[in-house]
Amino acid sequence: MTQKEYNIALVPGDGTGPEMVAEGVKVLEAVSAKNGFTLAFHDFDLGARHYNKTGETLSDGVLDALRGCDAIYLGAIGDPAVPPGILEKGVLLRLRFELDQYVNLRPIKLYPGVEPPIKDKGPEDIDFVVVRENTEGLYAGSGGILRQGTPHEVAIQESISTRMGVERCIRYAFEACKARNGAKKVTLCGKTNVLTYTFGLWERTFNEVAAEYPDIKTDYMHVDALCMWMVKNPESFDVVVTENMFGDIITDLGAMLQGGMGVAAGGNVNPEGVSMFEPIGGSSPKYAGKNVINPIGAILAAKLMLDTLGEPEAARMVETGVAKVLREDLKGVGAGQMGHSTAEVGDLIVEAMG
Ligand code: IPM
Ligand code: MN
Repeated sequence: MTQKEYNIALVPGDGTGPEMVAEGVKVLEAVSAKNGFTLAFHDFDLGARHYNKTGETLSDGVLDALRGCDAIYLGAIGDPAVPPGILEKGVLLRLRFELDQYVNLRPIKLYPGVEPPIKDKGPEDIDFVVVRENTEGLYAGSGGILRQGTPHEVAIQESISTRMGVERCIRYAFEACKARNGAKKVTLCGKTNVLTYTFGLWERTFNEVAAEYPDIKTDYMHVDALCMWMVKNPESFDVVVTENMFGDIITDLGAMLQGGMGVAAGGNVNPEGVSMFEPIGGSSPKYAGKNVINPIGAILAAKLMLDTLGEPEAARMVETGVAKVLREDLKGVGAGQMGHSTAEVGDLIVEAMG
């Protein structure tokens, strides 16, 4: 019998990215060996270092090579030395658009052992998923500046929503809800009282798709109210679906609900194509190279990758290992507060997987 092999593109990137990816790879190698598949890792040098050296953000050649992989595993991209926008637009957003990773998947889960950030709310209350549209909205890059630098300067940044883009994202949310062991509820997060064009389209599409899922309850919240409810009653959410910019904002709030950036992971998903998985904490330059960053965000990103590759048993093992280490071994989840180094946390998780 030949073993199944996956080609994984590694993009360690900047700052603490490489240290986090190294621990993720350690865990992935251990778990693949236990589950009868192999992973072939292919290194790609992208990010601030590469940009400063070559002036290049993401070449067509690299993009083509990435298209040939089964998934991309990313550390972090960004450095204060590069002006804002260049790497974000040139690497991260370009990858999302070119690979049509139309869902940004963000589990918000508080694991036992992690200090609850909200009084009286524990792991049984904080466990939901945000499905963020990832290729449209304000991120589409439509707009421009007129009369720049004059008193009459005009800046326009348009939000684009297409029926196709909205519908596929909403469908993904309902399918994710069906697959989850949750309250079987999808909440649409919008702003129908003000952004009537955008969320008119979202709401109509949501109601049409919902009609195909009679076993799933639906709910609607304006984005501002939803922020309040995320803090006040996080247990009321199962799956939240929303547009790109709102999703960006509420998922950082979500990261805090689950204990902080050290444990937050996300996936940029194209269910029919090449998806990309990352810890969402960023490159944290001040901790780079110190062996103090928490790799759990990256390791949970690897878990999401295994789920998407179709290796649910391996994904479950990784999550079990992470949960055990959070419960039994770590003093805290912030950088430098774990009571262990970055590499030791990776080792503990490998050990905890049995
Ligand atoms: C995220 C990040 C990105 C975004 C940035 C780095 C472009 O904040 O993945 O949430 O805004 O989508
Ligand atoms: Mn963000």
